[in-house]
Amino acid sequence: MLNLEQKFPRYPLMFGPTPIEKLERLSQRLGGAVELYAKRDDCNSGLAFGGNKVRKLEYLVPDAIAQGCDTLVSIGGVQSNHTRQVAAVAAKIGMKCRLVQEAWVPFNDAVYDRVGNIMLSRIMGAHVELVDVGFDIGIRESWERALEDVKAKGGKPYAIPAGASDHPLGGLGYAGFADEVRAQEQELGLKFDYIVVCSVTGSTQAGMVVGFAADGRARNVIGIDASGTPEQTHAQILRIAQNTAEKIGLDKAITADDVILNEDYAYPAYGVPSDETNDAMRLCARMEGMMTDPVYEGKSMQGMIDLVGKGFFPKGSKVLYAHLGGVPAINAYSYLYRNG
Ligand SMILES: Cc1ncc(COP(=O)(O)O)c(C=O)c1O
Repeated sequence: MLNLEQKFPRYPLMFGPTPIEKLERLSQRLGGAVELYAKRDDCNSGLAFGGNKVRKLEYLVPDAIAQGCDTLVSIGGVQSNHTRQVAAVAAKIGMKCRLVQEAWVPFNDAVYDRVGNIMLSRIMGAHVELVDVGFDIGIRESWERALEDVKAKGGKPYAIPAGASDHPLGGLGYAGFADEVRAQEQELGLKFDYIVVCSVTGSTQAGMVVGFAADGRARNVIGIDASGTPEQTHAQILRIAQNTAEKIGLDKAITADDVILNEDYAYPAYGVPSDETNDAMRLCARMEGMMTDPVYEGKSMQGMIDLVGKGFFPKGSKVLYAHLGGVPAINAYSYLYRNG
């Protein structure tokens, strides 16, 4: 066990450990040779539908408070789940919120910038700025300008990069996830052979790689790229994992080979679902009543289903699908799903 809470302050924003449920009907539908489970981080909090960023932000909030900041400043695409969760957390802890929303997705639904995540952020009182530049998970000028603007107006900004990833504390939440899974494995009397996770900005998988390296399972974390820029995402996962490992004093080195990132399912582009992604979302919804989204979790669901079909997981494997949230964005894709 890493027992992170003994080393780093954590501000509780989740309901508690998230449930693990067996995906019985989906497992059977795919042949029954592999047992599929889901860890429901999509239901982790009452903060505006929650999701993976809430788990990460539990470790950033104490730092923001300790520094005396009054405004959380972050960035993402127009339908970013991350910025919606930052807006919710800011509301909850009584800070202001400034969000830069870039045009990362080449998808032109008429209400794309009016519904779903961005609407929720506006309702929660965030100051939302739309910037017309394309996808990039790196540090952005638009975000740096927003930070300067908050300062110029007398505020004290707390800088949260895209996905709360490229931040010294960004990997801690999902390193802690591994401890949570280990405790649940004891209760359930089983051990997961694989963990499937969607990756874009990287700190979710990075934290898991570190957390599961502690018991020799780093390479059992199967990342499914949804960025469409997998080299950049792989490099960012590795960098964050190495920094996080050092921060928590992990006694094992993390190397590039520890970061498994499958590139096969991100097509045709970040934020745009393929027909196969949509089929995977429908199958999961119809077998389990479990909703996924066209940007992230639909792609990792597609990847998991396809890998089961290809026999990637040996017979009898127990596979844990990390459901990281993201469903509010589906409203911006209503035309695609007008007939289900
Ligand atoms: C629902 C959902 N799944 C997966 C991811 C990917 O996580 P990360 O950016 O930490 O790689 C994100 C955010 O980018 C997300 O909102």
